[in-house]
Amino acid sequence: MKIGILGMGTIGSGVYELAGKIKGLEVKKVLEKRFEAPYTTTDIEDIASDPEIKLVVETMGGLHPAYEYAVRMIESGKHYVTANKLLVSAYGQQLTALARSKGKAFLYSAACGGGIPFLRNLQLAREGDCIEEAGGILNGTTNFILDCMQSKGMDYHAALAEAQERGYAERDSSSDTDGLDTMRKLVLVCSVGFGRIVEPSKIPVFGITSISSIDIEQARSMGRCIRLCCTVKAKDGSLCAYVEPRFCLKDSPESSIRSNVNYAWYRGKNCGVIGFSGQGAGRYPTASNIIRDILSVNSPGCLYMTDESCSSVEPDCTAESHRYYVRISKEASFPESLISRRKESGSFSLIETIAISLKTIHSLLEGIAGAFAAGIEEDA
Ligand code: HSE
Repeated sequence: MKIGILGMGTIGSGVYELAGKIKGLEVKKVLEKRFEAPYTTTDIEDIASDPEIKLVVETMGGLHPAYEYAVRMIESGKHYVTANKLLVSAYGQQLTALARSKGKAFLYSAACGGGIPFLRNLQLAREGDCIEEAGGILNGTTNFILDCMQSKGMDYHAALAEAQERGYAERDSSSDTDGLDTMRKLVLVCSVGFGRIVEPSKIPVFGITSISSIDIEQARSMGRCIRLCCTVKAKDGSLCAYVEPRFCLKDSPESSIRSNVNYAWYRGKNCGVIGFSGQGAGRYPTASNIIRDILSVNSPGCLYMTDESCSSVEPDCTAESHRYYVRISKEASFPESLISRRKESGSFSLIETIAISLKTIHSLLEGIAGAFAAGIEEDA
């Protein structure tokens, strides 16, 4: 099969290289403006109008023109494979519907978990079981930062700079540290694992942008490690989905996830908890997941990651409550009735709350600059 690639950056060049080693696959054209080669073009129409190109891989990222290119390629009768989580979290269902109407594939395994074949396994699990819960650590940059702060005593900014140097972070690293990258990946987990379309802005998110070494020490003193986790639970026909740092128990699977590694899991009614860990980013891991998608178009003929029954849902986390660790400045107020323990440290109050709802903690901390909050995992 002859394919086209949109974007020859880190991931695109990985796909180019790996595809060249697979019998039956040939990269015919690449849309790339930064350098010239016999196979590059700067005109998207060169690829759209080439009848020999049956499938197009997009590795450019961003929302526009990625969306317009996806529409153009699918309308021209190409199968489409993308690693673009921003695109799929915003337009996944429209593009799946368009591809379905043309009888073409729309696949995005690499958009969540990089090289980990998580979404595809989640999809298979959903076909034969009922997925009750899913989640994990879906951002390598923040895990790297947290691990460096915890195991090497590095400060937040030094750890972030190192994550950027190693190429883990997004162009705008605030989407890693404020939890939005994890949230977008969680939107894909909701649609593939639960058949529900969730609007990204409706997912409550706390990130780690305001974390300090005090928080790492506090987690350690409670026998826990901080990880940026996401969770989605099916509940009474709706979904509760959220992203927040968590004080994970030392012997939990999350605490054992080091460096930039990702960990994704689901719990099926019959199969129990199944977990996957591995590289959630990077040239070859991500390209390998893209190659799996390309090959699966012909065999076993997998064209979509969701079925036609996929429907919108307003996430509902009203029933979700747990204890939180909160760090706020001494001057900021917090209702005494919700505090189970409070300690002063320099200019901060370090608070352990009683079990409170997501809604409560989000409304209490809204507008408090520099506040840091993390859910506390309890002993079973
Ligand atoms: N910035 C992302 C991460 C890249 O750190 O996980 C992979 O999606």
